[in-house]
Amino acid sequence: METIRVALEPAYSIHVGRGLLADIGKFINVESRRVLVVTDSNVAPLHLRALLSRLIVLPGIRSLGSITLKAGESRKRLPAIQKIYTAADRQTLGRGDLLIALGGGVIGDMTAFAAATWCRGIGCVQVPTTLLSMVDSSVGGKTGVDFKDRKNSVGAFYQPEAVVIDVDFLNTLPSRQLSNGMAEVIKHAAIKDVGLFGLVMAEEPDFVNIILRSLRVKAEVVERDPKEKGERALLNFGHTFGHAIEAHYHYRKYLHGEAISIGMMLVSPSPELRQALELWNLPTQAPGLKLDTLTDLVFKDKKNSRGVLRLIRVPEVGRAVIEELDEAAVRGLVAKLSADNEAASGGTP
Ligand code: GLY
Repeated sequence: METIRVALEPAYSIHVGRGLLADIGKFINVESRRVLVVTDSNVAPLHLRALLSRLIVLPGIRSLGSITLKAGESRKRLPAIQKIYTAADRQTLGRGDLLIALGGGVIGDMTAFAAATWCRGIGCVQVPTTLLSMVDSSVGGKTGVDFKDRKNSVGAFYQPEAVVIDVDFLNTLPSRQLSNGMAEVIKHAAIKDVGLFGLVMAEEPDFVNIILRSLRVKAEVVERDPKEKGERALLNFGHTFGHAIEAHYHYRKYLHGEAISIGMMLVSPSPELRQALELWNLPTQAPGLKLDTLTDLVFKDKKNSRGVLRLIRVPEVGRAVIEELDEAAVRGLVAKLSADNEAASGGTP
């Protein structure tokens, strides 16, 4: 087991290893606390009972409850938060108590948002079960839900008090979901750690080390810029067009990692990046997609304030830069990328 310390105020630890669920009591503080586990209908049958059985025997725990929400990206909305509040109210959770998120990015973001807002802030521990949530969303404190057609537009920055990553959860993860998470790992490699490509391309992937190395990139960036005033924007490499592609297809055609894979290749088509993405069966182009239809969606993204788009590019793998583009420059760029995409995918069917 290895631990990464995230030096924020307050600091917290990310524990990474195999079989950590069995020892969860070593990593979280439940003394005199009411604990509510939040999970979803995909994860509950696989892992909820195991987690609850480890928690209930911990000395000093005051009460233990759980709530299972319906799984799915489309349910990342305020009604689900109200369900968490209702469960918290029923269990009389107060300021000193704890929510535990057991699940992927949707459960992690919603549980942390409920923790940020219930009684003006209670404890939150992340126990991510997907590769994507292990390497990205469980760390860094971005929380929230979607509102109308805007992704994550209601939310808060709210750091967890601990993150417990049991890599054995990956044993039950479908291969498309593994690839989905690998897109974020490859993003971290592309922006800051060219050596991580070696682990990504290995014949037998060592997931413990892949996760650790990927998280070190993320933790360092978040420590320097927790509220995305500058450098943290680098973590959005591939996301400008990735988010727009996801929204264009109403979140049905591409998973998040697949969309950002296309988004990364559109703006920085390097051979190393393509090789890594293709090895993990990630799409590197969007056949038939007319990118100019995405321009409005790109500007609707909350990250693109005051008509200025902050586009992340990777001029060479391991180094990323932020470019600020006005709307006219974006339209010109999109027209060029659109022509390249159509040429690369053999024209629009
Ligand atoms: N997923 C990008 C970030 O946490 O900033």
